[in-house]
Amino acid sequence: MRNTDMTPLILANATEAANAVAERIITLLQDKPDAVLGLATGATMEPVYHALIGAHRAGRVSFSRALSFNLDEYVGLHPTHPGSYRSTMNRLLFDHVDIDLSRTHVPDGMASDIERAAADYEQQIAEAGGIDLQLLGIGRNGHIGFNEPGSPLESRTRQVRLHAETLAANRTFFADARVPETAITMGIATILSARSIVVLATGAAKQAAVAEALAGRFDAACPASALSAHGDVTWILDSAAAPGARAA
Ligand code: F6R
Repeated sequence: MRNTDMTPLILANATEAANAVAERIITLLQDKPDAVLGLATGATMEPVYHALIGAHRAGRVSFSRALSFNLDEYVGLHPTHPGSYRSTMNRLLFDHVDIDLSRTHVPDGMASDIERAAADYEQQIAEAGGIDLQLLGIGRNGHIGFNEPGSPLESRTRQVRLHAETLAANRTFFADARVPETAITMGIATILSARSIVVLATGAAKQAAVAEALAGRFDAACPASALSAHGDVTWILDSAAAPGARAA
């Protein structure tokens, strides 16, 4: 079912919102077991992956024929580093479901030629037939993937420099507090190429970015506002992240 309006689905709390996102993924895999999933990392996604593992253990969903492509990865961080998005995905999802790691893709942040690795990533997505469902979180500054404010609409997978507030927000994931300053990310155009997009935002810290993104026109100051140009985006929020919500 195409969702052509940007009216968000607002649920009471972060768990309910994450469960609703997980159900979207489960339904897709039940209908299309070889679906191509676009995945995201970040604290917002942790309960989604938790719910997917539960559904897998309950026999409701299999990932064995699916393919996955993650949005982004830090540059210069070895995949075994606990802060890398590869190891995060393995720990939070892949190690607990029936997906062969060879079917999971994360941009190569250790490539000697990042430009080449970025082009290869785009090609791998194209060869997989494109992404059926792209899962997105949103940064406090409106970023999607690591497309920071100012990112062009036509951007594709490339190396980017992270903004100071993104580095600060992600510091908690690094025991030594040294967050890599650059990353390789799908671009805004890459994200918009997905057949459907589900955005999950929870918590009051996301409210302003969500409100800007839902304003209805593209403003480069809020990369998530680019989603208004896509014909099938579902926004799933908890009540704290919903525009107009008052602090509890
Ligand atoms: C992660 C990603 C980012 C996060 C965003 C929100 O792969 O692409 O755009 O979705 O930074 O992160 P959390 O969920 O930690 O607030």
